[in-house]
Amino acid sequence: MDIEIVKKIEELKRKRKAVILAHFYQSPEVQDIADFVGDSLELSRKARDAEGETIVFCGVWFMAETAKVLCPQKTVLLPEQNAGCPMADMVTPDDVHRLRAEHPGAAVVCYVNSSAGIKACSDICCTSSNAVAVVKSLKESEIIFVPDQNLGHYVSTQVPDKRFILHSGFCPTHHRISPDDITAARAAHPNALVLVHPECPPGVVSQADFTGSTAQILDYATKSEQTAFIIGTEDGILYRLGKQNPGKQFYPLGGSMVCSNMKKTSLESVYRSLKDMQYQMELDKETISKAAVCLNRMFSVS
Ligand code: 13P
Ligand code: SF4
Repeated sequence: MDIEIVKKIEELKRKRKAVILAHFYQSPEVQDIADFVGDSLELSRKARDAEGETIVFCGVWFMAETAKVLCPQKTVLLPEQNAGCPMADMVTPDDVHRLRAEHPGAAVVCYVNSSAGIKACSDICCTSSNAVAVVKSLKESEIIFVPDQNLGHYVSTQVPDKRFILHSGFCPTHHRISPDDITAARAAHPNALVLVHPECPPGVVSQADFTGSTAQILDYATKSEQTAFIIGTEDGILYRLGKQNPGKQFYPLGGSMVCSNMKKTSLESVYRSLKDMQYQMELDKETISKAAVCLNRMFSVS
């Protein structure tokens, strides 16, 4: 069954001149049919430079929307219409305007996990892999960071000379991890290093051996001479970690971390997406041009 559907996807991909991009959090079978699997920064670069006419984005809404901003002339498809990101929905343009009014002179940095509307009213975008570099590049000494309070806090510890105003958003999948989960995981696997995503709360990040984006976690584990790791980010990354490091052991922190939105995409939905050309991302011209400025400022830094 899987072989049949994979064949159909390949045929439709040629017909639609499509490229399939998938985030590390996607399920193994979706990662396996993608032309490229990566973290948010790598995927946004791939989308920006993609050839062909169609991009199928196996991820969540804001990722496909970002691809549309970067390639407005292409058809960008999100296979699952309801694959959203709860954290991205926690901040509105009104919040950004209010924070700007309260802190005139501050720069607004938005995490890429946000809508195009938020990007359109922010000064510069960042992802979890370049957030520190993006903030360091700014001349402003006051930073409004939206929407992730945990990534914002992590950046504030790396850039102590700036003052941060953090929005209260969070990722439900990472935010529920506690320092007790690290204590339990270290007791169960005493020789393992703890690698976590900066979307985890400060008490978790401060006890980890390494903090980084999904691509940075992959790179760290691959280059490390250690052979056992406790992984504090969404479970989808475990597939790639295992594939790339067959001799090493990986244990999920907190038992299991699953983003139900990332897991909505299936081979069936990718097939339907290419067959029916759905669900197409649409944005108005003004939002595209303003959000593109915010994203391109990020690309000029990293
Ligand atoms: P990265 O892709 O930057 O590691 O971020 C993870 C994430 O939460 C995507 O939704
Ligand atoms: Fe959003 Fe968290 Fe899921 Fe990433 S893992 S898409 S931040 S809910």
